[in-house]
Formats: sequence, C-alpha cells, structure tokens
Amino acid sequence: MTILVTGAAGFIGSNFVLDWVDQSTEDVISIDLLTYAGNLENLSSLNNNPHHHFIKGNIGDRDLILNLLKKYQIRAVLNFAAESHVDRSIHESKDFMETNIVGTFNLLESARSYWNDLDQNLKQDFRFLHISSDEVYGSLDLTDPPSNESDPYKPNSPYSASKAASDHLVRAWFQTYKLPVFTVNSANNYGPYQFPEKLIPLCILNALNGKPLPIYGDGQQIRDWLYVKDHCSAIREVLKQGHIGETYNVGGSNEKTNLEVVKTVCVILDKLKPKSDGKSYFDQITFVKDRPGHDRRYAIDASKLERDLGWRPQETFETGLRKTVLWYLENDAWMNHVVSGQYQDWVQKQYS
Ligand code: NAD
Ligand code: TYD
Repeated sequence: MTILVTGAAGFIGSNFVLDWVDQSTEDVISIDLLTYAGNLENLSSLNNNPHHHFIKGNIGDRDLILNLLKKYQIRAVLNFAAESHVDRSIHESKDFMETNIVGTFNLLESARSYWNDLDQNLKQDFRFLHISSDEVYGSLDLTDPPSNESDPYKPNSPYSASKAASDHLVRAWFQTYKLPVFTVNSANNYGPYQFPEKLIPLCILNALNGKPLPIYGDGQQIRDWLYVKDHCSAIREVLKQGHIGETYNVGGSNEKTNLEVVKTVCVILDKLKPKSDGKSYFDQITFVKDRPGHDRRYAIDASKLERDLGWRPQETFETGLRKTVLWYLENDAWMNHVVSGQYQDWVQKQYS
C-alpha cells in the first residue's frame, strides 16, 4: 500500500515523510509545488530510496492528482500543502486563498472521484487526512479554557480564515459525500527543517548572525508549542485508529509568551554556543512594531486525542527546544542554502 503526502517538502510534511519511511512498510508518494517554503533538501536523505518517490506538482491540479491516486493505488491522502505564514498572508493573501481553499477543494474532488471508483475493500480502507491549525479558533483571553473540538471557529487573519474555510470543506465532503476524512488541528510546531520566517528558527538564525531578535508588540502573546515529531506521531495515530469524520486537536500543553520562548532560545544558545565577547544573546532582543490583528493567545485542549487514541507527546518544551537549537547548530549548511535572495527580500519587506 502507498500513501500520498502533499506539501512534503515543507517543514511538517518533510518531518512526517522522514518518520514514515523510517517506521512504516507502506511506500510514500510526495508531492509539492516547491514554493519559497518547499525545500527538496529536506528529503535528500531519501534520494534513491525505492520506498519514496517525489513529484513536483500542485494540489489544485486535478488530472495530476487523480492520475497519481490511480497509478499508485493510494490508500490515504495526507494534506499538508498550504501557504502557512500569517505575516505573508497580511501582506498578500491571494496565494492563501488559492492553495488553502481552492487547492483543498480540488484535492477533495480528486480524492472523491478516485474513491468513488474503488472496489469495496479498497474503498473501505481509504482515508483523507487534512492538517489544520489551532488558529481557526481565534484568540483566547487569559482566563478562557484551551480550545476544544466543539468550539466555534473565529479566525482573525487571512491565513487562519483560509485554513478555517478548508476545514469546512473537508467536513462538508464527509457529511455530503461520506468521503472518509479526518482533520487534525495542531498548535504551533517547532523543530528541524522549519523555514526561518517563523519565530523560533528566525531567532536562532539572527542570534548566530548578531542580528536583532524581533519581538512583535509587548511579546506577551501566548502560543501553545508542540515539537514537530510529536505532531507527526499524532497524525499517524489518527490515521491508524481515528474515527472517520472526526476532528482532533493536538498540542503539547506548552503555553508560553513569545518573550519567554525567545529568552529560552537565548539561554540554550548561551550554553551551546557562547558568544566570543562573553555577553548573552539576550542583548539582541528587540521590540518591534506589532503584527496587525495579532491574536493574543492560542491554547489547545488535546484531551480527546489522548483519551480516545492514547496519544501523548514525547517532548517537553525544554527538551524539544534544545533538540531544535542543536539541529540548527549542526545543520548550518541547510540554513545557508535556505537563506537565499528571495529570503532576503522577505526580511527586507517585513523588518526594515
Ligand atoms: P510550510 O510552509 O513549511 O510547508 C508548506 C508546503 O506546501 C511547502 O513545501 C510548499 O511548497 C507546499 N505548497 C504550497 N502550495 C502548494 C500547492 N498548491 N500544491 C502543492 N504544494 C504546495 O508549512 P508547514 O509549517 O509545514 O505546515 C504544514 C501544514 O500544517 C499546513 O497546512 C499548515 O497550515 C499546518 N500547520 C502548521 C503549523 C506550524 O506551526 N507550522 C501549525 C498548525 C498547522
Ligand atoms: P509565527 O512563528 O509566525 O507563528 P504564528 O503566527 O502562526 O503563531 O509567530 C509565533 C508568534 O511569534 C506570533 O505571536 C508572532 C510572534 N513573532 C514575533 O514576535 N516576531 C517575529 O519576528 C515573528 C516571525 C513572530
């Protein structure tokens, strides 16, 4: 049997594929449009691996996807492909609407067409798993309980609105057509291979290059952090034993303010890579203009996943962050390749 992973050259998709090939007997077909965020180097350890095959393509290309589904007799589609950066969605949201909404719609239609024609046994085994975000629930007050699966959707950014729309499509394809779907809504991920436009890798990169560590506004916004490998294990668990049509929240119960996160990165770097002048990386922390419509707090209640499927995260924030910083220190070649001209254009636009 074979699974199809979309967005496989991105941060979470590539971590998922690497873990899957390590742990499963099922082959993987990876597809990715290779936007600025997609990096084939993330999957380079699988070059020449007969259990993995990469195809450059768009989830919105129905013919391509349908052909792949048929050719490889796909038994599950995992949809990681998306435009994923909130700040970019604020500058220009068109690609977010095209990939996250229209792309997901086309992918669902390709999957439905393939699934409809399968014979009974294969039809029963087929799954469509959609990866989404805790940001669809909107911003919480400090006293609110963490978001659970039955909370209303209140997205506030173009990114989260597009993800919310895609979740609704996935739900509708189950309710109307009985396509066997799951949706997984995850907290903020961190770990290896994350593009340095997101808070944690950006701060590691800037710290090492002696540049400012930019904190938006007062730095008191709260995110719930999950180590990417724990997200991947949750997805595998949902795929294996989830209840069809259900949504599952996944998070690490690690609520931290942005300032706490960046300070913790500094503490780890001070130990692992002390500065030659004896000063702390703390000195590079800089408060900058806030993000428009910046959500104050996300927090996720993952008790359904824990109770129903027995999933638990393996990493605490401290152990996961240490592994992450170490990975970036040991993979400076990866970072140097990623920080291309296009990346510099983004930094100029966002932080100048
Ligand atoms: P990412 O930006 O690192 O990767 C996205 C990948 O999708 C890239 O490789 C890109 O080239 C590819 N892609 C974009 N448009 C495409 C298209 N039309 N067709 C095919 N491929 C396309 O994002 P990520 O952080 O790995 O996020 C993966 C998924 O997880 C997204 O759906 C995101 O919304 C969701 N998510 C991310 C986080 C997080 O903290 N990073 C948290 C919760 C949910
Ligand atoms: P980010 O990593 O972009 O993820 P998301 O917006 O999906 O939560 O940002 C995490 C938090 O860090 C968010 O509250 C915005 C904040 N942030 C900064 O303070 N400075 C930065 O340079 C970036 C990129 C993010």
